[in-house]
Amino acid sequence: MEKYKILIDTDPGVDDALAILMAHEHAQVLGLSIAAGNVGIEHTVANGLKLIEVIGADTPVFAGCATPLVHAAADAAYVHGQDGFGDTGYTPSTRSAESEHAALAILRLSHVHAGNLVLVAMAPLTNLALALRLDPTLPQRVAKLVIMGGAVTGRGNYETVPAEFNIGFDPEAAHVVFSTWPHFVLVDWEATVQHGIEFARIEALLAASDPRAQFYRAISQKTRDWTRAGGRPKLLIADALAMAVALDPDIVTRAKERRVAVEINGALTRGATVVDWDSRLGRPANAQIVLEVDQSRFESLIASALGAG
Ligand code: BDR
Ligand code: CA
Repeated sequence: MEKYKILIDTDPGVDDALAILMAHEHAQVLGLSIAAGNVGIEHTVANGLKLIEVIGADTPVFAGCATPLVHAAADAAYVHGQDGFGDTGYTPSTRSAESEHAALAILRLSHVHAGNLVLVAMAPLTNLALALRLDPTLPQRVAKLVIMGGAVTGRGNYETVPAEFNIGFDPEAAHVVFSTWPHFVLVDWEATVQHGIEFARIEALLAASDPRAQFYRAISQKTRDWTRAGGRPKLLIADALAMAVALDPDIVTRAKERRVAVEINGALTRGATVVDWDSRLGRPANAQIVLEVDQSRFESLIASALGAG
């Protein structure tokens, strides 16, 4: 597999953590730019630093925006724990975040690695929107943008029925990105639901002796219990799916090129991702919408990242 240079915009977050483990196993990771989202920025930064320590890497961590661009939004602590990492009481990392703001780090690294950078956005798009407004030429230097976000037929997981969390948390930021970035890969919540992992399978992987598996077993316990209690038959790991698509684009078995926009005003639909499925607007597609991937290849990428492959 080709070793991409990957920059990860993230709000760790239990599913973010698995994606970050996967990226470090299979690619060169240039940094984590951190957003608020699943929980507050103080936790998402601390979690990013801790995870890099567990991996034993020296990946820089850049703290970003503490709030959405315009409106306050509800977090997802009920899924990820109050600290975003399952409330295990882990010993905080002794490392610190860089002094550079995440949005500025995205811009700087895009110059250093121009044309050779894969950006994986798996948080509310606040940092990326800010970077884009600071420098609208950013997309010209990024080889590929993969976004985890949206619910392409309106079956979301956030406060308004059709919204998915990353888009619903900061719809204005998502609007900036979706209306400005010429073309990106979109891995949405509905694809995530189609590609859950059997609990028995993930728990077998988490039994590995590798420190990454042991750490992930601990921080994912609450989310696994919560998912089971909610009657879901499988564990849903949205960011891991997006990362798999970024690391190995050939795992995509079905996708559609379509125009996607973000609703920012609707009383019932704020944060919805509206897809022009029948190309009625006559506007060029801005997204490759991933509909299906090779499940066994997806799970292999996870297994090796946990030292269980
Ligand atoms: C997305 O929202 C967050 O809660 C997860 O980390 C993921 O990025 C799924 O809707
Ligand atoms: Ca996330």
